[in-house]
Parts: sequence; structure tokens; C-alpha cells
Amino acid sequence: MYVPKQVLTNGDLAQTVDTSDEWIRTRTGIERRHVAGAGESTAQMAIEAARAALRVADADPRAIDLIIVGTSTPDHLMPSTACQVQNALGATRAGAFDLNAACSSFVYALAMGHQAIASGEHRLVLVIGADTLTRFVDWQDRSTCVLFGDGAGAVLLRATEGPAGILATLLGSDGSGGDLLIIPAGGSALPPSKESVEKGLHYLRMNGQEVYRFATQTLAQATEEVAKRAGLKPDQIDLIIPHQANLRIITTAAKRLKLPLERFVVNLQEYGNTSAASVPIALCEALEAGRINPGQNIVLVGFGAGLTWAAVALKWSISPARAVSPAYRVWWRWLLYRWAGIRSRLRQATRHVTVWLIRLANRIGHR
Ligand code: COA
Repeated sequence: MYVPKQVLTNGDLAQTVDTSDEWIRTRTGIERRHVAGAGESTAQMAIEAARAALRVADADPRAIDLIIVGTSTPDHLMPSTACQVQNALGATRAGAFDLNAACSSFVYALAMGHQAIASGEHRLVLVIGADTLTRFVDWQDRSTCVLFGDGAGAVLLRATEGPAGILATLLGSDGSGGDLLIIPAGGSALPPSKESVEKGLHYLRMNGQEVYRFATQTLAQATEEVAKRAGLKPDQIDLIIPHQANLRIITTAAKRLKLPLERFVVNLQEYGNTSAASVPIALCEALEAGRINPGQNIVLVGFGAGLTWAAVALKWSISPARAVSPAYRVWWRWLLYRWAGIRSRLRQATRHVTVWLIRLANRIGHR
């Protein structure tokens, strides 16, 4: 996982917009958020998170078959963030694409990564959730700017024959709610223009109450449904890692599922809503805190703009003690990343020289 160093507390926000620490805490549970600074972007955070995942899994970037980046805030409309990650890792064998299901993107991407392995087509799939929503919020709009933070989280999926791993997946969408959470301009419907910028149409707009209602219903329903598909009753789920949007949403879901809040991973007080990054960041922190152990049934569940929702039920199989790379392998990967940078520049230079030679040959041919 990766989160920016720059922290913005509720108190900091109260100095720039008409809000208070008390309001934000009681309505959302959020206390602070990490905000991308100069030089930080969705791709840069995704690359850092991917390198951390490769370190923990002790894997070689050249063995990755597929990279999926779940994001709705890519660095560019094109190329994809996944291609930027592929280039920085030197993942020379990998296909790469972005997947946009807003805050559900990571769980969607995890389900897709699982299918890619289950099809027999791929053996090692890198799945990343990364977003920089703070670049798309209106910092004068107190109803949205207090909610979001930035970050990235990544996991590596590996083909195994064992009984553990992903047990069931669930994907859902309801486009009729598309207007409830939307960035109106910047796409093909409303390309950037002086007018669109003046009207602030590049900022995120949200109907908070409607989204809240959708989220409270969806979180519990999706968890219940994916558990059922995995052959589990809700009380057989050891840990639920939900999208970190609002503590009240998680508390309501816990009540509906008749499960104690302790069964849920909650870290939104530190990060706010990091969109696609929230579930993988919570997964990493739960792992580091020793809350995840082999044999446990875990449900990851996301919801967001679209409207979209997704859930994955899995049986954890890796012992945390195994998740350490020997030092020489860490150095080896460091060398591979340096080489990836050199290789990328060499390829760019070769392209420039080739174009130059072709132009020269054409000019000589015309004489
Ligand atoms: N500080 C102080 N007051 C605020 C405020 C803020 N940051 N944001 C809104 N308010 C005000 C409103 O203007 C309103 O004032 P009014 O009664 O004078 O009109 C009042 O607080 C209540 O607003 P309301 O929207 O009803 O608050 P709420 O209890 O529904 O909480 C959210 C607002 C945004 C926290 C809540 O709706 C929510 O969490 N929705 C889901 C958002 C979400 O998760 N989005 C991402 C999904 S992936």
C-alpha cells in the first residue's frame, strides 16, 4: 500500500470551509486524510503499492501476466495507468488495462483478476486500486471535500491448486443512479472548455443522502449474497473489509447482518474515503495488524458511483510469516526497477531514431 505523507486534519479543513471537527467526526467517522502532493499521482502511488506487493509476495515483475488498475482518476484519459505501472515495474510479459467502477474498482478488478486465472489463461495477476480524488473535489464544497483522501493498494493473485483462495464473486450495477455521484465534465460528453471550468463542472458532485441510502442497503446485501454463493452463513465470515466511505454506513451494515462491528476492518478515521484504494489499504493494514490468518473466511465489499457494487469472498491461505522477501531478492528487484527505467528510455530513444532514419531515407528517396 502507499499513502501520501501530506495529512489534512478536520481542524485544517475547518480553517478553510464552514465545517468543524465535531461535524465531520460524528457524521462520517473521518478524522484526517492523506492528500497527494507535488509529484504524487494515481500512477506514482499505484507503482509504489505494486512494488510493495511484489516485495511481500517475493515475486519477479517479469513473471506478471496481467496488470489491472482499478481507478476512476487515472493520470491521463490515455494511456492507461496500468501501462505506466507495467513500464515502471519492467513487467515485460504483462498485458495491462484500467478498470473504472469508481469506488468499487478494486473489488471489480479483483473479481476480474480471479476470472483471468480461473480461465487458465494467466498465472500471476497484479491487481491495484488507486485513486487521487482530492484532485477532483471542490475545496469550497464542504459537503464533499471533507470526505475524500488519496492512496493506493495492491495484491498479487497467483494460480494454485489448493482449496483456499477466492471462493465467490459478485458484481452489480445500476446506471439509473449515475447522476448521484458524478464528475460532469472532462469526458467526451462535456470536453474541457473555459465555460466548463468556470462552472466547476470538473469537480465531483454528489447527492449525499441518496448515496448514503444506497450504500447502507448495498453493503449488507452484497456481503450476504457473496457469502451465500461461497456457501457461508454471515456468522461464518471471520472478517469483512468494506469500502471505507462512512462509519455510519458500516455500522448500519453490521446491524443488518447481525454481526459485531469488530468483525469489520475500519480505518477511515485515518484516510477518509480513498475510493478504489480503500479496500486494499484496509486489507494491508489488517494483515499487518495480525487480524488475518490462514483458514479465515474474508469478504471484501465495495460500492460507489455508477452506481456499482462488488464483493469477493475468499479463504485466506498465506501465513503472514511467509510474507518476507530475503534481502538479496529486495536488491534484485531494485536493480530490475532501475533497469526498467533504462529500458524504457532506450525504447523511446530507439523509436525517435527509427522515425528520424525513416524521414531521412524518404528525403533522400525524393531527391
Ligand atoms: N460541515 C458542516 N455542515 C455540513 C457539512 C460539513 N462538512 N456538509 C454538509 N453540512 C450541512 C448541510 O449543509 C446540512 O445543513 P442544512 O440542514 O442547514 O441544510 C446539514 O449539514 C445536513 O446535511 P446532510 O447532507 O443531511 O447530512 P448527512 O447527515 O446526510 O451527512 C454525508 C452528509 C455526506 C456525510 C452523508 O450523506 C454521507 O455520508 N453520504 C454518503 C457519501 C458517500 O459515502 N459517498 C461516497 C460513496 S462511494
